[in-house]
Amino acid sequence: MYLYSNYNNNMKLSAQFVSKLEDNLPSTGKITCKSPSNIALIKYWGKRPVQLPENPSISFTLDTCRTITTLTYKKRTVFSDDFNFEFFFEGKPKEDFKPKIQKFFQRIEGYVPFIKQYDFVIETENTFPHSSGIASSASGMSALAYCIVAIEKELNAEMTQREMMQKTSFLARLGSGSACRSLEGPITLWGYHKEIPNSTDEYAIPYPFEVHENFQNYRDTILLVDKGEKQVSSTVGHDLMHGHPFAAKRFEQASENITKLTSIFKSGDIDAFIEVVESEALTLHAMMMTSLPYFILMKPNTLSIINKIWEYRKASKSKLCFTLDAGANVHLLYPENEKETVLDFIKRELVVYCQKGQYICDKVGLGAQLL
Ligand code: PMV
Repeated sequence: MYLYSNYNNNMKLSAQFVSKLEDNLPSTGKITCKSPSNIALIKYWGKRPVQLPENPSISFTLDTCRTITTLTYKKRTVFSDDFNFEFFFEGKPKEDFKPKIQKFFQRIEGYVPFIKQYDFVIETENTFPHSSGIASSASGMSALAYCIVAIEKELNAEMTQREMMQKTSFLARLGSGSACRSLEGPITLWGYHKEIPNSTDEYAIPYPFEVHENFQNYRDTILLVDKGEKQVSSTVGHDLMHGHPFAAKRFEQASENITKLTSIFKSGDIDAFIEVVESEALTLHAMMMTSLPYFILMKPNTLSIINKIWEYRKASKSKLCFTLDAGANVHLLYPENEKETVLDFIKRELVVYCQKGQYICDKVGLGAQLL
């Protein structure tokens, strides 16, 4: 699967390479990376250990909603069998983020064993408002994973850009599943699909087929309907798919929708795109409404917005559509050539449903970057 010669199966470094690495570790350094969020068109909902998806998913990589992470590393003088890191969010120490990072380090240690040789300072900030209800785990985990792989790259010039991306996506997946789709753009696919060469559950790949110009520079405006804490964490949400009465059918449907989307991307049929994308969003929420325990993650304003979009589409020739995360916020997806008209529509009709009138204008982007 993975061609990189210093690796055994599944991205583990060979023992020989680990000892070469450990002899040459830089004593100190600093790496900064920015990595975006992404929005799934075909949703990932349901996983098996460790962080492997029950179905393939496809997303647009975003551009403006990003996390910027600086990782400062200093080689330890005294060996300790624990991870040691400080974590700062927007300049302030953030103790409550640390358990997630500790867990991430535990999961990735087997693949980047040198991390125990360092004391780390992780400084991170988001370009989108904190507690906007936008998941920062995708951008945050992908940025951190990229910084860590960049340390490995410093020691190993042979590692190609493609190998770096694969390994980063693989590690990011272990932090937060959907994070693995944020590294590249404009469209990525994660999860094995029989019609997509090189697709794998282990990491995301750039969408490998032709994409019609209709989907170039697609816009995503995120309407912030509810900025509160998530009612259901995604860990709990994914777990609800175990023993879910519709799980098997849903996983099958997601694969079929990937096949549909593949031909839509090629033909440029935006009406068919709208149908698949909106159906995926509603299915995701339907899964949560039909699990035990059950949840309704939409708010009344989410529904009002959806109805307004449908009315607007009927009354105009607009190709505006929506998708949803596992929450109440609404992502408005539309072609670039509608950016002014849709913005007018948002200001006129939708902003009233947003908390404090807030929304974020984003568009499809190209993925993470080392700075
Ligand atoms: O990456 P997680 O575990 O936070 O799961 C994300 C799940 C959805 O955002 C609801 C769908 C997706 O594919 O991104």
